[in-house]
Amino acid sequence: MAESMQGLHRSHRCTEVSNKIIGEKVTVMGWVQRRRNLGSLIFVDLRDRSGLLQIMFDETIIGKEGFEKAGTLRNEYVIAVTGTVQKRTAAVNENLKTGDIEIVADGLRILSESETPPFPIEENSQTKDELRLKHRYLDLRRPDIQRNLMLRSKVAYLMREFMAKEGFIEIETPMLTKSTPEGARDYLVPSRVHPGSFYALPQSPQLFKQLLMVSGYDRYFQITKCFRDEDLRADRQPEFTQADMELAFVDVDDVIDVNERLIQYVFREAIGVEVSIPFTRMPWQEAMDRFGSDKPDVRFGMELCDVSEIVKDCGFGVFTGALENGGSVRAICVPGKGDMGRKQVDKLVDFAKGYGAKGLAYIQLKSDGEIKSSFAKFMTEDEMAKLIEAVGAKTGDLILFAADKNKVVWDVLGALRLHMAKELDLLDPDRYEFLWVTDFPLLEWSDEEGRYLAMHHPFTMPMEEDWPNVDSDPGSVRAKAYDIVLNGTELGGGSVRIHQNDIQEKMFEVLGFTKERAWEQFGFLLRAFQYGVPPHAGLAYGLDRMVMHMVHAESIRDVIAFPKVKDASDLMCEAPNGVDPAQLAELGIAIVETSEDKEE
Ligand code: AMO
Ligand code: AMP
Repeated sequence: MAESMQGLHRSHRCTEVSNKIIGEKVTVMGWVQRRRNLGSLIFVDLRDRSGLLQIMFDETIIGKEGFEKAGTLRNEYVIAVTGTVQKRTAAVNENLKTGDIEIVADGLRILSESETPPFPIEENSQTKDELRLKHRYLDLRRPDIQRNLMLRSKVAYLMREFMAKEGFIEIETPMLTKSTPEGARDYLVPSRVHPGSFYALPQSPQLFKQLLMVSGYDRYFQITKCFRDEDLRADRQPEFTQADMELAFVDVDDVIDVNERLIQYVFREAIGVEVSIPFTRMPWQEAMDRFGSDKPDVRFGMELCDVSEIVKDCGFGVFTGALENGGSVRAICVPGKGDMGRKQVDKLVDFAKGYGAKGLAYIQLKSDGEIKSSFAKFMTEDEMAKLIEAVGAKTGDLILFAADKNKVVWDVLGALRLHMAKELDLLDPDRYEFLWVTDFPLLEWSDEEGRYLAMHHPFTMPMEEDWPNVDSDPGSVRAKAYDIVLNGTELGGGSVRIHQNDIQEKMFEVLGFTKERAWEQFGFLLRAFQYGVPPHAGLAYGLDRMVMHMVHAESIRDVIAFPKVKDASDLMCEAPNGVDPAQLAELGIAIVETSEDKEE
């Protein structure tokens, strides 16, 4: 039966008890990790969020009744123990913070009992994800997840502390709002009072933080939830947390400066990693050309090499065809992989196809001197020699070639570069390589929509020197946008915003908005801008992603208390779920069967 806390007061968390207080009386509480009976002695490992502590029950000290009670303890029972700290009688456990001490119990209360948990509560458990997430409250008891969430709390605290010192004001923005233009699908919330109308949950506080600049709050900061109805990935959740900021009277350098110091502070104080600043700034074009990615992992080389010039007159139609279509031929040299077997090479070809390649051409410089290639027969000896030289390949290396439109070539080789780095074990998790990617294209052509889309969002400032070309060559205009990249992940992104009405109107025109539609959707912002708007710029981090990197988590779920799974559902509380018809009626909503439902 569950006993009460009456008259008891917890004096220490488990690992706050140490060899400095030997002989003192303590009261500790927590969960039973394990019980061992050794005849006249019973040992229990007690666990709380701080760690483990060994309790010893000795019948001569706790008495017959207490000893019998200790004998009934099972895993995950919640207990309170009073006793005296002593040096361990048995072997010292070097792996435990409290490994040289134990508590000799003189009192025991069972505060609550537990059924046998569906999986063991231990570090790095091999339990299936579904089972873990269905019982997330138990999964959250695991020490590794507890450490992650405690670090997350510390990171949020450190950020707030730094930002407050720098003069930022934390202001909350609404959750029930109008859709913000971040490019993902919105989560909608029906209005009862306005049947047929919907709020959108914010994809980011973007427009509100810009309005706060108009209102004179000149440095805003917020740690806040954002919602995006997009496909889930290892580093993407439908609801996630941004550390979001906006500054008035600033340009790119001001934003970058405060953020480099913020990162340096948070990484030092949270995980003891010394990050040196300033970070490298790499224009988007260079990032694509060298790494095939706008979020390059620069912990290793294997850079892309453009060999278009060498192969432009060769006899291999795959290469010349790509060039004729305005594309390019590029290569990466994978050190030490020249002796790959046929099957392994075929796997790489399939991998490349997964990223949109039509195929993958290669040269293997085998360690016995043989040169094996999928296209040598179409090339002159001179061309082959030049290709090998251009990528700097040596005997024993493998050269992979992609020929296509630039975007496909970058995607394929960028992905292969990372894939091979993993195989070659080149990704040192303890190295933190920060980088700014700058000068993004302002616009991105969408084949699907047959028009230009804003690469960041429609409020991003174009570069002054490029803006005059917006009509003649919209794709060539660069933006005052920047991403902060860590080890191949986009940790955050931001931009200088347009604060001039004429540029903003032109931007909407280029994006294919009529004036009416622009006003309908963003009128409140455009109107606000008519009343004195300071130049402003900002940035937002994915807080979850930052913590993921700090703890080397493979999934974003390991740093979020109650995450969702791939189909965006919560396995524990079973959201989303159907609702009472009365609730729907009140909202004026009727569920319509879709063709997909009928097919089932
Ligand atoms: P952006 O859309 O780049 O910029 O988002 C900022 C950062 O948020 C993180 N992030 C995510 N994390 C987890 N799951 C997701 N689904 C997800 N989507 C984004 C990323 C990303 O870098 N309003 C602008 C910022 C600005 O211009 O100031 C914005 O939201 O780490
Ligand atoms: P194919 O002419 O399609 O039989 O291809 C000849 C060789 O070129 C094969 O080894 C293909 O894998 C490779 N290949 C085909 N398309 C491409 C491409 N776009 N880029 C690089 N290699 C390719």
